[in-house]
Amino acid sequence: MVVIEARNVTKSFSAGDVDVQAVCGISLSVNAGEFLGIVGPSGSGKSTLLSLIGGIDTPTSGQILLEGTDLAAISDDQRTLLRRRRIGFVFQAFNLLPTLSAIENVSLPLELDGVAERQARQRAAAALESVNLAHRAGHLPSMMSGGEELEQLEDELRHYRA
Ligand SMILES: Nc1ncnc2c1ncn2[C@@H]1O[C@H](COP(=O)(O)OP(=O)(O)OP(=O)(O)O)[C@@H](O)[C@H]1O
Ligand SMILES: [Mg+2]
Repeated sequence: MVVIEARNVTKSFSAGDVDVQAVCGISLSVNAGEFLGIVGPSGSGKSTLLSLIGGIDTPTSGQILLEGTDLAAISDDQRTLLRRRRIGFVFQAFNLLPTLSAIENVSLPLELDGVAERQARQRAAAALESVNLAHRAGHLPSMMSGGEELEQLEDELRHYRA
């Protein structure tokens, strides 16, 4: 089953009088359970493409379909719900809320979505446990290093490959 599909996607930015073509005609599809790596030099458009697939930004042309839904064909509010409920995203600069602890960062989207605080915290605790970060639940993002997070991710990948 195809969960993510990009059809001839382009994205350009105009910065002053210079036009930057960040993504040029990308088509791809990702099946459920499939891992896809996108590699390329700095500035080649990887983060821009991820922002488009994640429904954070909209393409200049082409289409992005998430579980068959064309992200350009739905309202801002519907895209917000889709981002909150159907797609996860690790940003290049993490974008964690600096004044919230690890568990508060993880449970916030559930609480915004109407899940009771107690239940949201339980689910967040289980999510942290699943990436071996239960012991850091009360720590602020500034107390956790990017390297530690990468180690956790590599552990997870080994787990999935096993
Ligand atoms: N908001 C923006 N306004 C203008 N130009 C932008 C904007 N966002 C990205 N760009 C430009 O688009 C191009 C692609 O940027 P992008 O961040 O997607 O690259 P990247 O492949 O993720 O790079 P890196 O490996 O360094 O993270 C770059 O030339 C960048 O300067
Ligand atoms: Mg990037």
